Amino acid sequence: MKRQASYGGYELKKSPFRIAVLPGDGIGPDVTAAALEVLDGVADRFQLSIETESYPVGWAAVEEADHPLPPETRRAVLEADAVFLGAVGDPKADELPPELRPEAGLLELRKILDCFANLRPARAIAALEDASPLRSERVRGMDFLIVRELSSGLYYGEPRFVDRSGEKPVAVNTLRYTWEEIHRVARVAFDAARKRRGRVVSVDKANVLETSRLWREVVSEVGADFPDVELEHMLVDRAAMELILRPGHFDVILTENLFGDILSDEAGALTGSIGLLASASLGTKAGLYEPVHGSAPDLAGKGLANPLAAILSMALLLEHSAEEGEAAAAIVGAVEAVLASGVRSPELARPGEKVSSTQEVTDHVTRALQIR
Ligand code: NAD
Ligand code: IPM
Ligand code: MN
Repeated sequence: MKRQASYGGYELKKSPFRIAVLPGDGIGPDVTAAALEVLDGVADRFQLSIETESYPVGWAAVEEADHPLPPETRRAVLEADAVFLGAVGDPKADELPPELRPEAGLLELRKILDCFANLRPARAIAALEDASPLRSERVRGMDFLIVRELSSGLYYGEPRFVDRSGEKPVAVNTLRYTWEEIHRVARVAFDAARKRRGRVVSVDKANVLETSRLWREVVSEVGADFPDVELEHMLVDRAAMELILRPGHFDVILTENLFGDILSDEAGALTGSIGLLASASLGTKAGLYEPVHGSAPDLAGKGLANPLAAILSMALLLEHSAEEGEAAAAIVGAVEAVLASGVRSPELARPGEKVSSTQEVTDHVTRALQIR
């Protein structure tokens, strides 16, 4: 990362690392504020030179600029070194035409950034074993990474339409994958597995879908380039079950866009809360970092949101885009220390346990960061 360097008594001021911040809707602004406070703390401690600027996205942008991804935001994300997003989505947008929905802004954002590989790590944290709906001996040791294809599949396939011209309406979406799209995301998964426990489970529905049969073929082809990585193919229905029965079985889970979306919420539940799950979306341009959870409108502005998914997403940003692994590890360490000390956001607290607000959890993390 570009830091301020000092040479021969002169301050060489290199340009700061620029993050475009898109708080979005619902709890998006709550958890984004938390992540930015933690970023401030870590920048202080590691003397990082970082500039952040906020831009509208989602329903907030529809209200402000009549579009879920206005031109100003588009320009900013394309010029930034990394992009941080809170969440999008608002019940008030339900009546909007599909292209103006907050979610359409997010999908367009992912598209223009060409973020094709969505990394969603899920790990059982010892202090939270009791928060998982699974018995602790089952969830103990769970540590996997979902590599979700993010730029294609049903989310983007054409044609897509609702035809209301007949007696009853017909709706069509298209599931389409090219060899290149599968190949590039598969490489990311195998590379990641090499740095982990060396196992990839590729999840598909090859017993029914052509796209999945091509998926299997291409993933096997990529797998042949990684003889040191063990590859297993698994049908998605079976994978949904195995995640509950044997979450510890998985190391890297490689899958297409829609399956990855669904399985990641399941992963959130396994860890104890979706409010813990962070993500990094990587491609050929700036990386995009966002918690896996949505805008949770019921919790917005009440101090009830768990900020840890957003804070851990900021850690992923520092690791992958800013190449500040030490700062990223410090955040992860602080989060673990805070959880180990018994701090619990409302959705994690068990009856009788002390509950901490979004701000209190954040303050605990920033304080833990200062302890070296
Ligand atoms: P959601 O993730 O917003 O909420 C699911 C459940 O988890 C709710 O009970 C919510 O209260 C809880 N929850 C979520 N985040 C939490 C947190 N940080 N702390 C504590 N509890 C948390 O999913 P949903 O209800 O299906 O969707 C709500 C809106 O969010 C929809 O408009 C949807 O499109 C949108 N959404 C956006 C994103 C995103 O921006 N990346 C992701 C998922 C859903
Ligand atoms: C996610 C979300 C999004 C997705 C929605 C809001 C478009 O659910 O990031 O998991 O489906 O990708
Ligand atoms: Mn989702």
